[in-house]
Amino acid sequence: MDLAAFQRRVTPELGDEYRLFRAPGRVNLIGEHTDYNDGFVLPAAIDRDVLMAVRPHGGRTVTLVSLDFEGVSTFSLDEIGYDPAQPWSNYLRGVCFVLEEAGFHLRGADVIFGGDVPIGSGLSSSAALEVATATAFLSLAEYDVPGEEIARLCQRAENEFVGTRCGIMDQFISALGEADRALLIDCRTLAHRSIPVPPGVKLVVGDTGVRRGLVSSEYNTRRGQCEEGVAILQTVLPGITALRDVTPEQLATHKALLPEMVYRRCRHVVTEDARVLQAVGAMEAGDLLTLGRLLNASHESLRDDYEVSCRELDTMVEIARRQPGVYGARMTGAGFGGCTISLVAAEHADAFVAAVAPAYEAAVNLTPAIYVCAASAGAREEEIGDGESGAA
Ligand code: GLA
Repeated sequence: MDLAAFQRRVTPELGDEYRLFRAPGRVNLIGEHTDYNDGFVLPAAIDRDVLMAVRPHGGRTVTLVSLDFEGVSTFSLDEIGYDPAQPWSNYLRGVCFVLEEAGFHLRGADVIFGGDVPIGSGLSSSAALEVATATAFLSLAEYDVPGEEIARLCQRAENEFVGTRCGIMDQFISALGEADRALLIDCRTLAHRSIPVPPGVKLVVGDTGVRRGLVSSEYNTRRGQCEEGVAILQTVLPGITALRDVTPEQLATHKALLPEMVYRRCRHVVTEDARVLQAVGAMEAGDLLTLGRLLNASHESLRDDYEVSCRELDTMVEIARRQPGVYGARMTGAGFGGCTISLVAAEHADAFVAAVAPAYEAAVNLTPAIYVCAASAGAREEEIGDGESGAA
């Protein structure tokens, strides 16, 4: 979010006693629904983020003001409860709760935050909020905690306090993203390697405008189906603990053991893991055609085997693929609405944005938001300054 725009919306203006923290949303290039299967993902942090101004004080009270949601939420660090009346506050409460539980002694503070990651669009606005909160509160209390640990703590907050069984990808990339690079993350070991986005190509996000309540129940169902697959496969592959350990060949060999739907869920995961590693090779070789083909195959697998796409995502992807200069396009994030990502030759990016929006609107009667994203740095503190020069 542009710092000047943030400053303009805060009244009265932020004084010197505030510190300012920023944490980005993300787009995933490839590796969807693999993180909770101990697999591989390849996300990039984007230039859309949460900005959080924090003023510490001597007490243990935290006061939260959101520029995007109504109301003020206040709690004590000594007794952090879930607030059903102000659900947005639970991401911050959850992070403070988990940090205190992990032994960090936090300082009370007044918090004002806002952002430009569209909420519920599959670009991880909630992970950005969690990671901004953890980064801010840990810094105020003078703890120096590595990004990997911040990501784990934020994931725990979302799993245990907010109640969503997400994997580690979103929090990890929000904490550890790098400018102009995507991050290959091994979600089992959290080993990671940054991969430059090839020059000459743009990451273009297409927000379908569809927000589906289905996401969390269907997400948990998919997780359950993956676990069922692992339990059955363990009878013939005793060494495995997650789908990460199963090759596409092994899965094909033991197909008959699995209920048909569970087999297809597993096939998505094991082939997607393989595609992530191939995509990294293609990116490093500058082979955009192969990279694009892998993105396309990922979409087909998510649509047909994992069944987490929807008509609007499929339509956006089809329109995107018809445009000049497009290497590949797929849904990104959990699915059931939200966003697509297209890999577009830089010189075609403006024409792509101009063409896709009206074609999509004509096809599904919804107004999309199409924007070119820059792969960006992860969470960090910023100077408040005069608000004129600090745009992301
Ligand atoms: C959501 C979750 C992530 C990941 C993706 C699907 O974004 O928060 O952990 O599982 O869905 O790849």
